[in-house]
Amino acid sequence: MIAAVIIRPTLLRLVLTVGLAAPAGAQDLVGHGGPVGALDAGQGLLVSGGFDTRAILWDLDTATARNVTRFHTGNVTAVRLLPTGGFVTAGQDGRLAIWQSDGRTPIFATPQAASAVASLGVSDDGGQIAAGYWNGRVVRLDLATRDITEIEAHSDRVTGLDFLTDGDLVTVGGDLILARWTPQIEPKFRLGLPALPNGLARVESSVAVIFADGALRLYDDDGEFVADQFLTDTPLVSVAAGEQTIAAGSIDGRVWLLDSVDLVSRQSFTAAAGPVWGLAITQSQVLTSGADGTIRAWSLEGDAMGGVVTEAAPAIHDGSRGAEIWKNCAVCHSLKPDDHGRAGPSLYKIFGRQIASQTGYDYSDALQELAIIWTPETLSDLFTFGPEEYTPGSRMPEQRIAAPEDRKALVEYLESVVDSQD
Ligand code: HEC
Repeated sequence: MIAAVIIRPTLLRLVLTVGLAAPAGAQDLVGHGGPVGALDAGQGLLVSGGFDTRAILWDLDTATARNVTRFHTGNVTAVRLLPTGGFVTAGQDGRLAIWQSDGRTPIFATPQAASAVASLGVSDDGGQIAAGYWNGRVVRLDLATRDITEIEAHSDRVTGLDFLTDGDLVTVGGDLILARWTPQIEPKFRLGLPALPNGLARVESSVAVIFADGALRLYDDDGEFVADQFLTDTPLVSVAAGEQTIAAGSIDGRVWLLDSVDLVSRQSFTAAAGPVWGLAITQSQVLTSGADGTIRAWSLEGDAMGGVVTEAAPAIHDGSRGAEIWKNCAVCHSLKPDDHGRAGPSLYKIFGRQIASQTGYDYSDALQELAIIWTPETLSDLFTFGPEEYTPGSRMPEQRIAAPEDRKALVEYLESVVDSQD
C-alpha cells in the first residue's frame, strides 16, 4: 500500500525569499515548514531542528542543505553538532539520534522515552552526549560504548546543560538549581538560583545562564556568581556562546551580543516578531530562528544579511489544486533562476532538464549519479514512488502524493509556470 504521506499541514505555508545581494556565506535559510526551535553552528556548518519533525544540516558557506533528516515523531527539540562533522538530534519523543553528516538514517538512536528532551550537550572530544529531559532526568551517553548513565538530576525540567572542559557536566533546572556532575553523574555541587533559568551556554570554564527575569548571569566552574547583566524585563529564551561573544535572545524577538569577559552589551537588534527560540553564533555571523520557519543570518553588528522575506508573487498563486500542492514544495524549492536559498534547488524551467543540473546548487552525489530527465511523467513518478525509491540516496525527505489527480494537478501547475518562464 502506498502511504498517503504528503507533508504535514504545518507545511501549508508559502514563504519566498527575494534574494538581495548578500555576501557569500551569509544567507537566510529556508527549509523548515514551521517553527524552528533549535540551532547549533560551528566549522562552517549549522544544524537546525524544527516542529515539522525535520532536522537539517546546512553548509553555511554555500547556504545549502547537506542533509535533511526526518526521524523523530513530534518536534525536534534540541540539536548539537559533533566535532567529527556529524550531529545529534533529540525530540519530543524523548529519543536521541546520532547522525553522520550525510547519513540518511541515524547511526544510533535511543528508544522512545516518556518525557521530551529539553536540552543537549556534547563533550569537547565528542565522545559524550548529555540530554536533559522535561521530567528532570539527565541521560549521559558514551558514544564509543553506547553505555547510558541516567539520573534524576532536577525535580523539574532540565532547561540547560553543557560539558565543562574536564568532562564534568553542568545543568540548570526549573527547580532553580545549578548543579555540577562528575562523569559518573555524582553531584559535585547543587546551588540555588535567584530566578527561573531558561538556558545555559559554556563560556571557557564558566557558564552563562539566561533567566526568565531578563537577566544573563555568569557563574564560574565552582558555581560562584561572577557577574550579571539585566537585558530586558521579558524572559530570555535562548543563549549561545561564540569566541568572545555571548548571544542571548528574548521572548519578544530581541537579540543581544555581549562581551563574554565583562558582559558589556555590544549590540542589540530585533530579529523576529515573536520569540527567538533558536540562536547560534559563529566567528562572522549570528543565526536566529523562531515561529516563522526562516533561519535568519545577521552580522556581528546586527545587520540582516539574508535579504527580505516577502510573500510569493501573485502569479504563483492561481488558485488551482496544483498551486495548493506546490505550497508544500515551495518551502524548499523556488521557481526562480539561481534561487537556491532554500533547502532544495530551484526548479526553474525544470522540464526537459537532466536531474541535478541547476547551476549553483550543491546536489548530493546520489542525485548526480542518476540519469533521469525531468518530464511531466518522471516528475509524477517521483511522487508516486517517493524520492527514496525513485531517486535513492536523495536528500529530499520521503514524501508521496497518493492521489493520481493530485500528481496531475501539480505537474500541470508546474508546466503552466515553467512555460511562462523565458
Ligand atoms: C524539506 C525540503 C523539501 C521539500 C518539502 C521538497 N523537496 Fe524537492 N528536493 C529537496 C532537496 C534537498 C533536493 C535535492 C536532493 C539532493 O541533492 O539529493 C530536492 C530535489 C528535488 C528535485 C530534483 C531537482 C533537480 O534539479 O534535479 C525535484 C524535481 C523536486 N525536489 C521536486 C519537489 C516537489 C515537486 C516537491 C513538492 C511536492 C518537493 N520537491 C518538496 C528538498 C525538498
